[in-house]
Amino acid sequence: MRNLGKADVAIIGGSGLETLLEGTEQIRVGTPYGLPPPISIGEVGGKSVAFLPRHSVHHSIPPHKVNYRANIYALFEIDVKRIVATNAVGAVNVDFKPGDLVVPHDLVDFTKFRQPTFYDDAPVTHVDMSQPFCPEVRALLIKTMKKRNVRVWDKAVLVCTEGPRFETPAEIEMFRRLGCDLVGMTAAPEAVLARELEMCYATVCFVSNMAAGIQQQLTAHEVAEVAKEKIPVIQQILRETIEHLPQSRQCPCAHALKNARFEVK
Ligand code: HPA
Repeated sequence: MRNLGKADVAIIGGSGLETLLEGTEQIRVGTPYGLPPPISIGEVGGKSVAFLPRHSVHHSIPPHKVNYRANIYALFEIDVKRIVATNAVGAVNVDFKPGDLVVPHDLVDFTKFRQPTFYDDAPVTHVDMSQPFCPEVRALLIKTMKKRNVRVWDKAVLVCTEGPRFETPAEIEMFRRLGCDLVGMTAAPEAVLARELEMCYATVCFVSNMAAGIQQQLTAHEVAEVAKEKIPVIQQILRETIEHLPQSRQCPCAHALKNARFEVK
């Protein structure tokens, strides 16, 4: 039986994805950090799953104004242990093309003004980000996609910029030289905050465009178009991945706070 108002797994993404959930109810969850968008809770493959529309209803909150702390804390409050996100990205590495699906393995945070942590006070807490995306959830996403013959890039370095503007060609060239493959505006500090609360976090990125300077001009319209086009395949992958997630977690995310606290002896 479903525990009302609680969920094991959460999906964070753009609106449209929530039709994946069955028997949905909408809830509001207050947090010490503010009020996140309405969260839908329903069932996917026998599991209780929450859906949080990152940019709220009607895509009204830009990436730099998303209250990442409220969003992640709300999911923590309703008992979520694993988060599977989706992010629109531009391709910095020219091997990647619009329409491609990617499960990145590493993250570079180039955001500027966001609240990056839950740990502003003592005890001083440094979580390990040696594997910023949950290796267990990543592996299952990739395995599911390969089993279904969905083409997937199973490694990539994602850089997150502040937005809401797109980057300049010089910025993209800098990111390329630094070894970044993809650029987006929402994975940081989302992935970090999840780790700080010992929640797993992995993302399926869809490439909506080649990054600035690689293609002539960038439009929000093309990002929205590719997002819409990719909804069915992403829903299928998320459904099957969530269904096969094992009950217990063997990943480092589950113990992220162990040895993370700075103790003065
Ligand atoms: N840059 C940053 N974020 C993005 C892009 C981009 O080119 N495309 C989709 N999200």
